Amino acid sequence: MARINEGYRRLQAGYLFPEIGRRVGTFQKANPEARIIRLGIGDVTRPLVPAVVEAFRAGVEEMGTATGFRGYGPEQGHEFLIQAIREHDYRSRGVEVGADEIFVSDGSKCDSANIQEIFSTDCVVAVTDPVYPVYLDTNVMAGRSGALGEDGRYGGIVYLPATAANGFEPALPQARVDLVYLCSPNNPTGATLTRAQLVRWVEWARANDAVILFDAAYEAYIRDPDLPHSIYEIEGAREVAIEFRSFSKTAGFTGTRCAFTVVPKEATGSAADGSRVSLQALWSRRHTTKFNGVSYPVQRAAAATYTEAGRRQIREIVDFYMANADRIRAGLTRAGYAVHGGRNAPYIWFETPRGQSSWEFFDRLLAHANVVGTPGSGFGPSGEGYFRLSAFNSAENVDEALSRIARLG
Ligand code: MLT
Repeated sequence: MARINEGYRRLQAGYLFPEIGRRVGTFQKANPEARIIRLGIGDVTRPLVPAVVEAFRAGVEEMGTATGFRGYGPEQGHEFLIQAIREHDYRSRGVEVGADEIFVSDGSKCDSANIQEIFSTDCVVAVTDPVYPVYLDTNVMAGRSGALGEDGRYGGIVYLPATAANGFEPALPQARVDLVYLCSPNNPTGATLTRAQLVRWVEWARANDAVILFDAAYEAYIRDPDLPHSIYEIEGAREVAIEFRSFSKTAGFTGTRCAFTVVPKEATGSAADGSRVSLQALWSRRHTTKFNGVSYPVQRAAAATYTEAGRRQIREIVDFYMANADRIRAGLTRAGYAVHGGRNAPYIWFETPRGQSSWEFFDRLLAHANVVGTPGSGFGPSGEGYFRLSAFNSAENVDEALSRIARLG
């Protein structure tokens, strides 16, 4: 009998973004004349920059020649990309990362979803609340949770609330936790972890033999020069942290697909016999067994983001989105909303008016302003009463959305 994985049955009905898509689709069908503005899913809207396109094209052309053709590449990524990552993402910030500690992949969503596989199913997992749903759902799928309670929380999972009441800084776990997911700049709240806060997390992980799964997919949006971009800027983090990075939001690769994960050699977990096992070795085994590498032209395109022209061009795009974030913050504040995030992140997180639930506000915004955002409760129970707008759209659409929201009253 092919018994199914019961973890899947414990999951809440559907993944958040398809549910939003379904509601928007129904509305658009009933109101074909409505010009809907989408500030929901954090998907980039600007085209790939010229340096990337040129390298992408050259990579494809190389593949079309007898001498340049390549079959399977190295599963961990091509040397030219790994070296560029080491130099520009890490060495430039005083951090040394080994070439064999970098694993190039087709996305941080997959990596942050798959990483839990190398840990025991009886590990206790902590997530911040609200949270990017992938971290939580994949642990539920893997059987690390109990049932979903009436309070919207899965049994067996430790929730660390991050709300306006604690300045969106989740407290350190009080009970035993083996794995914790941190995301900074944060999706969805747009909050960031300061150096001092990250030091506390690293110390906590070291003291409790825990592992931090650190998602830095939005690090390119950091504008405050004092904020760390990598957890490895913190002393001791190499022993306790795995970091996820992506070209998706940094360079508009959501449709092109390229990311990487760093697993330092010093990071270990404990085996059933009490011995310590290298997480880098486990992830390497997983990656090389289940993945055949990112396509050569895509890796060439990713490497082009580190050239002088590439860096300048992607910086312009990030600045463009952050100018949108500034306008969204200002527009919502003028309209009377309590606004958070959006200073070092492309996400603006605000409180729904007059105690409306997040989904009530979603429906109202869609019906009366034809604007799509993301209901905070979709990211966890502590997101209830909040709403997320993303800065990924044209300046004109952002301005139009803001004037429609202002007219909502
Ligand atoms: C989001 O809107 O939260 C992001 O698009 C999710 C993602 O990057 O997968």
